[in-house]
Amino acid sequence: MISISDNMADGDIINHAGDEAWMYSDEVKEHFFNPQNFLNDDPEPGEFNAVGETGSSACGDVMRVWIKVDSESDRIKDFKWKTFGCASAIAATSMASVMVLEGKGMTLDEADKLKPQDVMERLGGLPARKVHCSVLAHQALRSAIENYRTK
Ligand code: FES
Repeated sequence: MISISDNMADGDIINHAGDEAWMYSDEVKEHFFNPQNFLNDDPEPGEFNAVGETGSSACGDVMRVWIKVDSESDRIKDFKWKTFGCASAIAATSMASVMVLEGKGMTLDEADKLKPQDVMERLGGLPARKVHCSVLAHQALRSAIENYRTK
Protein backbone atom coordinates (compact mmCIF):
# COMPACT_ATOMS: atom_id res chain seq x y z
CA MET A 1 0.00 0.00 0.00
CA ILE A 2 1.20 3.49 -0.75
CA SER A 3 0.15 6.92 0.33
CA ILE A 4 0.48 10.31 -1.22
CA SER A 5 1.67 13.33 0.65
CA ASP A 6 0.83 16.87 -0.32
CA ASN A 7 -1.90 16.74 -2.96
CA MET A 8 -3.98 13.95 -1.52
CA ALA A 9 -6.91 13.71 0.77
CA ASP A 10 -6.62 11.28 3.64
CA GLY A 11 -6.40 7.60 2.83
CA ASP A 12 -4.19 5.12 1.13
CA ILE A 13 -4.37 4.05 -2.46
CA ILE A 14 -4.10 0.43 -3.35
CA ASN A 15 -1.81 -0.11 -6.27
CA HIS A 16 -2.77 -3.45 -7.71
CA ALA A 17 0.34 -3.48 -9.88
CA GLY A 18 2.63 -3.37 -6.83
CA ASP A 19 4.60 -0.49 -5.38
CA GLU A 20 7.62 -0.76 -7.64
CA ALA A 21 6.00 -2.11 -10.76
CA TRP A 22 5.76 -0.03 -13.92
CA MET A 23 2.98 -2.23 -15.25
CA TYR A 24 -0.27 -0.67 -16.36
CA SER A 25 -3.60 -2.40 -15.97
CA ASP A 26 -5.72 -3.20 -19.02
CA GLU A 27 -8.16 -0.54 -17.85
CA VAL A 28 -5.42 2.11 -17.79
CA LYS A 29 -4.28 1.11 -21.28
CA GLU A 30 -7.86 1.21 -22.58
CA HIS A 31 -8.43 4.74 -21.26
CA PHE A 32 -5.05 5.93 -22.49
CA PHE A 33 -5.53 4.64 -26.01
CA ASN A 34 -9.23 5.57 -26.13
CA PRO A 35 -9.62 8.55 -23.81
CA GLN A 36 -13.24 9.40 -23.03
CA ASN A 37 -14.58 12.97 -23.02
CA PHE A 38 -11.32 14.51 -24.24
CA LEU A 39 -11.90 17.99 -25.66
CA ASN A 40 -10.35 18.20 -29.11
CA ASP A 41 -11.19 21.79 -29.96
CA ASP A 42 -11.62 24.91 -27.91
CA PRO A 43 -15.04 25.04 -26.23
CA GLU A 44 -17.80 27.00 -27.93
CA PRO A 45 -19.15 30.01 -26.02
CA GLY A 46 -21.88 28.78 -23.64
CA GLU A 47 -20.99 25.12 -24.16
CA PHE A 48 -19.93 24.80 -20.50
CA ASN A 49 -20.69 26.85 -17.42
CA ALA A 50 -17.54 26.29 -15.37
CA VAL A 51 -13.85 25.61 -15.90
CA GLY A 52 -11.13 24.43 -13.58
CA GLU A 53 -7.39 24.11 -13.90
CA THR A 54 -4.56 22.72 -11.84
CA GLY A 55 -0.89 21.94 -12.16
CA SER A 56 1.20 19.24 -10.59
CA SER A 57 3.93 20.33 -8.24
CA ALA A 58 5.53 16.92 -8.80
CA CYS A 59 5.97 17.12 -12.57
CA GLY A 60 4.77 20.53 -13.77
CA ASP A 61 2.02 19.10 -15.95
CA VAL A 62 -1.28 20.93 -16.31
CA MET A 63 -4.90 19.76 -16.38
CA ARG A 64 -7.96 21.75 -17.44
CA VAL A 65 -11.56 20.56 -17.20
CA TRP A 66 -14.86 22.07 -18.32
CA ILE A 67 -18.21 21.09 -16.84
CA LYS A 68 -21.81 21.81 -17.74
CA VAL A 69 -24.05 21.82 -14.70
CA ASP A 70 -27.84 21.59 -14.88
CA SER A 71 -28.94 24.34 -12.52
CA GLU A 72 -32.26 22.63 -11.74
CA SER A 73 -30.82 19.31 -10.58
CA ASP A 74 -27.27 20.44 -9.73
CA ARG A 75 -26.09 17.47 -11.80
CA ILE A 76 -23.03 17.54 -14.03
CA LYS A 77 -24.27 16.82 -17.54
CA ASP A 78 -21.02 17.24 -19.42
CA PHE A 79 -17.36 16.98 -18.46
CA LYS A 80 -14.56 17.53 -20.93
CA TRP A 81 -10.85 17.86 -20.29
CA LYS A 82 -7.43 18.57 -21.79
CA THR A 83 -4.02 17.93 -20.36
CA PHE A 84 -0.34 18.19 -21.04
CA GLY A 85 0.04 15.30 -18.62
CA CYS A 86 1.24 11.76 -19.14
CA ALA A 87 -0.51 8.48 -19.93
CA SER A 88 -1.52 7.98 -16.30
CA ALA A 89 -3.05 11.46 -16.09
CA ILE A 90 -4.93 10.82 -19.33
CA ALA A 91 -6.26 7.46 -18.13
CA ALA A 92 -7.21 8.80 -14.70
CA THR A 93 -9.02 11.84 -16.07
CA SER A 94 -10.78 9.78 -18.70
CA MET A 95 -12.02 7.41 -15.99
CA ALA A 96 -12.99 10.29 -13.69
CA SER A 97 -15.06 11.83 -16.49
CA VAL A 98 -16.84 8.51 -17.08
CA MET A 99 -17.59 8.13 -13.38
CA VAL A 100 -18.93 11.69 -13.06
CA LEU A 101 -21.21 11.30 -16.09
CA GLU A 102 -22.50 7.81 -15.31
CA GLY A 103 -26.27 7.47 -14.96
CA LYS A 104 -27.88 10.88 -14.65
CA GLY A 105 -24.53 12.48 -13.85
CA MET A 106 -23.19 13.17 -10.38
CA THR A 107 -24.53 16.08 -8.37
CA LEU A 108 -21.98 18.73 -7.48
CA ASP A 109 -21.84 17.39 -3.93
CA GLU A 110 -21.24 13.83 -5.17
CA ALA A 111 -18.53 14.97 -7.58
CA ASP A 112 -16.94 17.04 -4.83
CA LYS A 113 -16.57 13.83 -2.80
CA LEU A 114 -15.05 11.79 -5.65
CA LYS A 115 -11.54 10.92 -4.54
CA PRO A 116 -8.45 9.94 -6.54
CA GLN A 117 -8.62 6.63 -4.66
CA ASP A 118 -12.04 5.92 -6.21
CA VAL A 119 -10.67 6.55 -9.70
CA MET A 120 -7.57 4.47 -8.97
CA GLU A 121 -9.74 1.56 -7.88
CA ARG A 122 -11.70 1.62 -11.12
CA LEU A 123 -8.43 1.76 -13.07
CA GLY A 124 -6.97 -1.22 -11.25
CA GLY A 125 -4.25 0.94 -9.74
CA LEU A 126 -1.29 2.84 -11.15
CA PRO A 127 2.45 2.38 -10.72
CA ALA A 128 3.51 4.02 -7.47
CA ARG A 129 5.52 6.75 -9.18
CA LYS A 130 2.53 7.72 -11.29
CA VAL A 131 -0.02 8.02 -8.53
CA HIS A 132 0.42 11.81 -8.33
CA CYS A 133 -0.89 11.96 -11.92
CA SER A 134 -4.29 10.70 -10.78
CA VAL A 135 -4.66 13.69 -8.49
CA LEU A 136 -4.78 16.19 -11.35
CA ALA A 137 -8.30 15.22 -12.44
CA HIS A 138 -9.52 15.45 -8.87
CA GLN A 139 -8.03 18.89 -8.31
CA ALA A 140 -9.16 20.30 -11.66
CA LEU A 141 -12.70 19.00 -11.12
CA ARG A 142 -12.89 20.54 -7.67
CA SER A 143 -11.58 23.79 -9.12
CA ALA A 144 -14.36 23.71 -11.75
CA ILE A 145 -17.00 23.01 -9.09
CA GLU A 146 -15.73 25.95 -7.07
CA ASN A 147 -15.75 28.09 -10.19
CA TYR A 148 -19.41 27.17 -10.78
CA ARG A 149 -20.41 27.83 -7.18
CA THR A 150 -18.77 31.25 -7.05
CA LYS A 151 -20.48 32.52 -10.19
FE1 FES B 1 2.97 14.65 -14.97
FE2 FES B 1 1.95 12.21 -14.97
S1 FES B 1 4.06 12.77 -14.96
S2 FES B 1 0.90 14.08 -14.97
